[in-house]
Amino acid sequence: MWTNVFERGRLQPGQTLLVHGGAGGIGTTAIQLGRAFGATVIATAGAPDRCEACLRLGASHAIDYRTEDFVARVREITAGRGVDLVLDIVGGPYLARNLEVLARDGRLLQIGLMGGARAEISLGPILQRRLWITGSTLRPRSVEEKGLIARALESRVWPLVERGEVRPLVHATFPLARAADAHRLMESGGYVGKIVLTVRAGSEAPSGG
Ligand SMILES: NC(=O)c1ccc[n+]([C@@H]2O[C@H](COP(=O)([O-])OP(=O)(O)OC[C@H]3O[C@@H](n4cnc5c(N)ncnc54)[C@H](OP(=O)(O)O)[C@@H]3O)[C@@H](O)[C@H]2O)c1
Repeated sequence: MWTNVFERGRLQPGQTLLVHGGAGGIGTTAIQLGRAFGATVIATAGAPDRCEACLRLGASHAIDYRTEDFVARVREITAGRGVDLVLDIVGGPYLARNLEVLARDGRLLQIGLMGGARAEISLGPILQRRLWITGSTLRPRSVEEKGLIARALESRVWPLVERGEVRPLVHATFPLARAADAHRLMESGGYVGKIVLTVRAGSEAPSGG
């Protein structure tokens, strides 16, 4: 989230960031960091209580994507201008609409594909409004690259965590042996933030198979 929104996406104070899945693990962090670095944050979530959670975390507006058209709502909120950045985890089904809500020189940061990886779009808006589409994953990066990201977080984000301005949101904690319960909770959708598995050294050795 850091490397996409702030390094690749170059989010600046005063700009507007649209965060999809605002009540999820990535979303709750993106709302808090966007706000802490001076951006206006609009979030989408799938239920009224999840929208409330986004507002409590610092989003200026929350859109219930199950009952509202996020393109129309973003246009209304930004008085037709659109947003500077979209952080998206849905993918294919949202691509055309994400481009629609971007302002001139807007950037789409694609970091997940929960709704699918394929889409057909018109390339016209990219030329007309000088849009950027990018994305990345963390896992295939070298230890050196991961180290650079970690050091950027240490210097730019850790002070905010220490001051309590940004906090990781942990909805529930399960011992590793109850990972199946953690997955059930995740599949139910009834959580805000992260679900954590705890591992005690020596006590959770895999039993084979
Ligand atoms: N590229 C990277 O470096 C990177 C790093 C970390 C994570 N990720 C990816 O980012 C994604 C999100 O991770 P997470 O930890 O935030 O997961 P999460 O806690 O499960 O949150 C995902 C959120 O997405 C929303 N959502 C899911 N499907 C949707 C759809 N079809 N339409 C609209 N909203 C939808 C849900 O919102 P509601 O429940 O409110 O409906 C959910 O809260 C995952 O795909 C993960 O693999 C990528």
